[in-house]
Amino acid sequence: MRTNFATLIITALSVAGTASPLDASLVVRDDGKIIRVKEGPNSIQKAIDNAKKGTRIVIERGTYPEALTIRTNGISLEGKPGAVLIPPQHFVDNACTGVAAKANASDPAEPTTQAGICIQGQGIKLAQDFQTEHRRVASVTREVKDVSIKGLTVNDFPVNIMVIGARNTDIKDNVLQHGRRYGLLTDGSYDTTVKGNVVTTTDDTDFIAVCMDGFAGAKAIENKLTGYAIGFCVQTNGEIIKRNTIKRACSGISVDAHIDGVKIIDNSITEPKDPSLCGGFLIGVLLDGASDTEIHGNTIKGHIAPAPGGGYGILGFDELCTPANGLACLYNSTPSLLVGNKITNNVVRGNGQDIAVFESTPGANVVRNNDCQPATQEGALAGTCE
Ligand SMILES: *[C@@H]1O[C@H](CO)[C@@H](O)[C@H](O)[C@H]1NC(C)=O
Repeated sequence: MRTNFATLIITALSVAGTASPLDASLVVRDDGKIIRVKEGPNSIQKAIDNAKKGTRIVIERGTYPEALTIRTNGISLEGKPGAVLIPPQHFVDNACTGVAAKANASDPAEPTTQAGICIQGQGIKLAQDFQTEHRRVASVTREVKDVSIKGLTVNDFPVNIMVIGARNTDIKDNVLQHGRRYGLLTDGSYDTTVKGNVVTTTDDTDFIAVCMDGFAGAKAIENKLTGYAIGFCVQTNGEIIKRNTIKRACSGISVDAHIDGVKIIDNSITEPKDPSLCGGFLIGVLLDGASDTEIHGNTIKGHIAPAPGGGYGILGFDELCTPANGLACLYNSTPSLLVGNKITNNVVRGNGQDIAVFESTPGANVVRNNDCQPATQEGALAGTCE
């Protein structure tokens, strides 16, 4: 009966100096476990600053021009329907500031990137800055643990939600719209679960819907991704990507070089973008030198693009990292061979090449029992097609 209790003491406690029962921003607290937030200047951040481990912050319908920083263990943000976070006039820098690269690194007029919600540990040391994609985390002194974000709509930030130096974070049932570099980025974290979110944009210049560059324990389940150049960027060993729907992407799921043991199961990747918006290439699942990936139960359709580009349902090749191709090669420039991948029991139909695996060691990968058309491209292996 916490909720009733909260209602009873609605005027009794307010946490910020400016809050009073007459304020539009009425921050209400019952037994230290629930804080209710209404529209008002920095009303969510004020609630976060007053939250303790175990506090639930419930955000009422309304538009909140704030960027949030969460450093407290065990707090949860719960948006009621119609609770929308949008960029404020001014940002306060935090650990997420500048982690994502700018769209154009050499444009001094483009501001440093910021996150809408930054869930951050303490003492985060960033790795070398290559001014592309994002900066990796080298080390964290103290992780922020057990934070969850649920039911919020977050719109129009360079990164809508970033999880950095965190452990056991849940991002569930949110709507993340028009994150210009990332809808969601998890970086240098353990055990991040991203489930049931809608990550969407109508701006064809937006980059990545969900990128998980964690230390370990990344899960993406039952999300709906639309409109980004890349749906999932996969940079955590053992990452699980299950039952997601990806539409209007150039590349649905990209598994980077040096990434091992990813599971890609029961996803749907269909209706890609027009190839002219994608440098001529459409790819359902890309294994860019990945190893030991398990890919089964996926439906991948409609990746067709005219020469000199091309369309692929599932495309895999050795990544020699010369030249450096993407962030993975910049941080580790040794070759990453396509080995130990298992591609079985997928429906891969109506793509330029349904499955094209270019392996340097014959038999290094298992490709069989897929519903597909045999590959026609020279040197491509499609395994057994039904
Ligand atoms: C990036 O910004 C620089 C400096 O403003 C500009 O000269 C260049 O054309 C921009 N590049 C792109 C791809 O927009």
